[in-house]
Formats: sequence, C-alpha cells, structure tokens
Amino acid sequence: MFKKLKQHWKVNGLHLAFIIATFALGGSLCGYAGRKILLLLHMDKGVSWVLLYILLIVLLWPICVILISIPFGQFLFFRKYIARIWQKFSGRQKVRIAVFASGAGSNTQVIIDHFAGSPSTRVALIVCNKPGAGVLSIAAKENIPALLINKEQFLNGDHYLAALRENKIGFIVLAGFLWKVPVDLIKAYPKKIINIHPALLPKYGGAGMYGHFVHEAIIAHKEKESGISIHYVDELYDHGEIIYQAKCGVDENDTAESLAKKIHLLEHAHYAAVIEKIVMKG
Ligand code: GAR
Repeated sequence: MFKKLKQHWKVNGLHLAFIIATFALGGSLCGYAGRKILLLLHMDKGVSWVLLYILLIVLLWPICVILISIPFGQFLFFRKYIARIWQKFSGRQKVRIAVFASGAGSNTQVIIDHFAGSPSTRVALIVCNKPGAGVLSIAAKENIPALLINKEQFLNGDHYLAALRENKIGFIVLAGFLWKVPVDLIKAYPKKIINIHPALLPKYGGAGMYGHFVHEAIIAHKEKESGISIHYVDELYDHGEIIYQAKCGVDENDTAESLAKKIHLLEHAHYAAVIEKIVMKG
C-alpha cells in the first residue's frame, strides 16, 4: 500500500511519513477543535450535535491540515492536495493547454513537468509543424496526443480549430513555434494564446527573428543585455502585449551558443509560472 502511495504521489519514504503524520495530526486537531466549538455552544448530544460536528469537521479539516503541514514542511503538497479535492467538488473543469512547438522542446518539457499533477491545468495536446522534431518524442514519452500540421492548411482559414475543440483546448502556449498564428485562431482564442520570445521585445523581434538568429544578431550588435519576453499573440509577429520580461547580461566573450544557454535557463525558470498565472486569471 505504501509503495503504491509513494508512486501515486511521487514521493520518497521520508516524505510519505511526514504526509501521513500531517494527515493524522490534522485529523485529530480538527476533531478536537470541532468538539471544543460544540462545547462552547452548549449543545446537547443528539442528531443536531452529530450533524453540526460533521459540518465542522468538513470545514475545519483543510485549515487544520494546512496548519499542521507547515512545521512538517508539507505545505506545498497539501495545498495541491486540497486544491485537487476542491476542484472535484466544485466541478470546475481543468484548463486544457495545447503547446505549439517545433524544436527540441525543452520549454515544452518544463511546462509538462510543471503542470503534472496540477488540479487545475493540464497539457493536453502538442501541436508541431516539423516531422522528427524533438518535441514529438517528448509527446510520445509523456503520452500526450500530438498533432502534426501542414503549413498551407494551418495558414489558410480555420482548418485546425475543430481539432483544438475536439481536444477541449482552452489555452494555447507557443514554445518555439515559428509560423505566424492565423487570424482565425487568434479570434477563436482571444487573449488565450501566449508566446515566448528569446529577446527583450520590441527589439530583435519580427519575421525571421527566432532561435539562434536572435542571439547572433544580439552578439553582432554588441548588446550588453538580452532576455526573454512572454507576450499575448496578435496578428503581427512578436507584437502582442508584453506580459513578462526577464533579463540577463551579455558578456564580451559570449557567443550565440552561450547566450542561447543563458536564455534557455531564463525561459525554463519563468515560462511555466507565468502560464499558470495567466491561466488562473481565466
Ligand atoms: C526558445 O528559446 C524560444 O524562445 C524560441 O525557440 C526556442 C525553443 O526552444 N522561440 C522563438 O524564437 C520564437 N520567435 P525549445 O524547443 O528547447 O523549447
């Protein structure tokens, strides 16, 4: 049983022991607090006492477990656990994200990992335009459906909207996707498509500015800093409202490759968290 729980919650033995201790102490605390409250209300034991006690337990349990989880260092686990329960009871649907990517997919992997086990969000589809791209292997490894798209069909009209609807996609994330997003798609997902660009927009953006071309241009212009921009997608390349930027220095001896590494580190550190914030805003 413990083995199954460890696998299910992806935790080690010590972590599991702290989780069980939190459950046990949280449960006892909430039972104790419930009885104390009923004592203060001077209620006689009877049906209404039992009903009120059950109601108090339901209401106090999350608070008690969260309180106990703090000294045990399990706050993050229980915050997620309670959010998952709340999600089930409230009937709120998970937001299903489609990641559009056509490269190695390092950002896609970080995004998948970030939302693994999330009660509210899940990467439900990978859309790719490049047969053999690394991101397709990631989709296969992670058991996420992948859609390989054709340029003409993608750019002309609403050909792929049906596939996105079928997969109940509510939000689109571009992570190394280089084609311009067609207007039909933008209209179908207003303020629900975001992109990451490996430079500090509005500089070094636009058609042809992607991946290593961006870093080469920055090195050629002897820029002292670069960074990442996360922005809403509109009809123009790298143009929509900027949501978040983070900077890094460019040293004299940096090359396009070394700069690309710094940029990837920034992307991996920030993109998933920004996606989560925007998705939560609704
Ligand atoms: C990322 O650096 C992303 O910013 C860039 O492609 C890379 C994809 O890397 N996107 C653009 O240049 C868009 N204009 P990844 O495949 O390892 O995630």
